[in-house]
Amino acid sequence: MSTAAAAAPSRPNPLAAFYASTIGKKWIVALTGLGLIGFVIGHLLGNLQIFLPPDYINTYAKKLKDLGPLLWIIRFGLLGIFVLHVVNTIQLRQRSAAARPEAYAVERKKAASKASLTMIISGLILLAFIVFHLLHFTLTVIPTKDIHVLDPLGRHDVYRMVVGGFQNPLVSIFYLISMGLLCMHISHGFQSVFQTIGLRTRRLSGPLNLLSNGLGWFLFLGNAAIVLAILFGLVK
Ligand code: HEM
Repeated sequence: MSTAAAAAPSRPNPLAAFYASTIGKKWIVALTGLGLIGFVIGHLLGNLQIFLPPDYINTYAKKLKDLGPLLWIIRFGLLGIFVLHVVNTIQLRQRSAAARPEAYAVERKKAASKASLTMIISGLILLAFIVFHLLHFTLTVIPTKDIHVLDPLGRHDVYRMVVGGFQNPLVSIFYLISMGLLCMHISHGFQSVFQTIGLRTRRLSGPLNLLSNGLGWFLFLGNAAIVLAILFGLVK
């Protein structure tokens, strides 16, 4: 190796530099957040088929399962997006706490500790919800009425499994609380995306608030409608 080559400064990888920068992390949180919102909207639209005859949601679930390896690619992609979202959010919070001037920190101490306590509690409940939900309906290891029943065509009867699941009031209440927290989180997060990408001008902030609140309510009411319709025997 020549001395000149050995002395050459190592060039920083632009992708790694972007990932390490605060603005890069903000963009990653915003874009992964949009991806997760897209999943939650799509998942809700699929699940609303519970209001149609059982064949609809069972055919839909079978089609998803038949994607085979592609389904696993989508699952791991979703998990990767989720991990990137959580890790970068935590790193951004740590950076902003470290950068906060002393006087500001004292002034805002009460509000900040209340906000971070709310974030920690709601974050833990949401994490518990996602773990429970995967054990419940994907891995089907939580004892639930009709969880392993087959439909007349010999397919997994997802319709009966979901109905059996929400006939349990404790499960339904846990879902409703989690759904409320998730939708508040989504509504707040959706507003922040526009801040990050620089579209939240004074003129647009009113319509954007309306859009974010509308999205949060749509997701909450759509999911809650499924749980409540089953709990009160309207879907059985
Ligand atoms: C009332 C509300 C909900 C119902 C009825 C519901 C129903 C289901 C069902 C039936 C499955 C299993 C699909 C199958 O294997 O055939 C599933 C999987 C899943 N759900 Fe939900 N879900 C609800 C809310 C949510 C929410 C709010 C989230 C996100 C925060 C979510 C995230 C997931 C994930 C990540 C999976 C795994 C997907 C996979 O198997 O690849 N669900 N859900």
